[in-house]
Amino acid sequence: MIGTGYVGLVTGTCFAEVGNDVLCLDVDAAKIAILKQGGVPIHEPGLETLIRRNVDAGRLRFTTDIDAAVAHGALQFIAVGTPPGEDGSADMQYVLTAARAIGKRMVDFKIVIDKSTVPVGTADRVRAAIAEELASRAAVTPFAVVSNPEFLKEGAAVDDFMRPDRVVIGADDERAIAAMRKVYAPFMRNHERLLVMDVRSAELTKYAANAMLATRISFMNELANLADDLDADIEHVRQGIGSDPRIGYQFLYPGVGYGGSCFPKDVKALRHTADQHRRPLKILEAVEAANDAQKLRLVEKIVARLGGNLDGRTFALWGLAFKANTDDMREAPSRAIVAALAARGAKVVAYDPVAIAEAKRAFGDVAALSYAASPMAALDRADALVVITEWKEFRSPDFDAIRRMLKEPLVFDGRNLYEPATVRAAGLEYFAIGRR
Ligand SMILES: NC(=O)c1ccc[n+]([C@@H]2O[C@H](COP(=O)([O-])OP(=O)(O)OC[C@H]3O[C@@H](n4cnc5c(N)ncnc54)[C@H](O)[C@@H]3O)[C@@H](O)[C@H]2O)c1
Repeated sequence: MIGTGYVGLVTGTCFAEVGNDVLCLDVDAAKIAILKQGGVPIHEPGLETLIRRNVDAGRLRFTTDIDAAVAHGALQFIAVGTPPGEDGSADMQYVLTAARAIGKRMVDFKIVIDKSTVPVGTADRVRAAIAEELASRAAVTPFAVVSNPEFLKEGAAVDDFMRPDRVVIGADDERAIAAMRKVYAPFMRNHERLLVMDVRSAELTKYAANAMLATRISFMNELANLADDLDADIEHVRQGIGSDPRIGYQFLYPGVGYGGSCFPKDVKALRHTADQHRRPLKILEAVEAANDAQKLRLVEKIVARLGGNLDGRTFALWGLAFKANTDDMREAPSRAIVAALAARGAKVVAYDPVAIAEAKRAFGDVAALSYAASPMAALDRADALVVITEWKEFRSPDFDAIRRMLKEPLVFDGRNLYEPATVRAAGLEYFAIGRR
């Protein structure tokens, strides 16, 4: 497993769990050191236990030694990052470096599997990079390249991997297809979920999935903002449309905008591909613009209520991670919200159950931002409460205690976690996204 981040570590661990012998490689020596000492560098429910069990059983090991990694497996998964480049395209340098590293060293048949999210045509580039390395040392070792995009969700990654909705395999080599069927067979004992297709379609499928989900979110956010103006309640609308099986309930929650390592960069990368082909995806342009605006929707509500000058104000912030059950701060809406509040002179005291360490890294030294050890501690001397992440522990707070602690009885809820009537019954003013 080349790349031991969210995807590589979960994938490697789950493959070990069903009996495979897995060696996880990373260039980040600090990450590998943590794993070797029995630690887990990321927060992902259930992962630690699984890692420990498989390390103890001798099926899961970690290394920075690329020679060992290439020698280890007939299947070489590439699960490195594909961050956005300056122009929005996916930065392919890590994937291609990994491919070259394999090409340089392989001495027997290898199946090289792109698990990273990569633009259409990447398998060809990976194939060319490996072929070039082989040619430079006059080797004729056979290999196949497969696209196997990953659909796991951070925060439920282990469950998603162990019980996938589908596994997409893009390949044209029969041996490779057979090997992929075999390695995924333990995850689909109840019924077949493997979708085999051509490589380019597999590569596009991953972007299409994330773009569709991002579209649903932006659509609901825009609709929620309109509901505010119309004095309608988006929660009723959500149920009214979600109950239609053609629409479904999932991903219809309005909020503070999507974040994380995937949606923002994948929407950008797909737009970039489309632009290159002079087939701009107009819908995605709007999805992105709506999302950028949505990240500041709560701040707009704060300013509408308290005025534009927030000098001397302190806000208690519940939640920093881009969503619940993760410590991932990449593109988290909290970053835009903290920056906007600080720019208006406010101070922010933030609490998050797991993301504070990551947040400290992400924010660096921001004088206006400090951290609290509990949700209630964050309220101490705060003017108002701002809820940003939908953590379970925020769902049923003691509203009377909140009112007693706040200087002003104001709750700005970016996740629509509460029943407006309940919050108001406790004497609090409640501002949510598209709720009456
Ligand atoms: N995070 C998710 O929820 C998710 C879900 C589906 C798909 N993906 C995709 O999977 C890919 C990986 O995402 P991630 O979130 O796991 O990233 P990540 O940043 O958490 O992990 C990537 C790891 O690869 C390592 N790496 C980089 N170059 C390397 C090399 N040459 N050899 C060995 N290791 C190397 C990095 O040090 C890092 O630890 C991305 O393309 C992403 O879009 C992510």
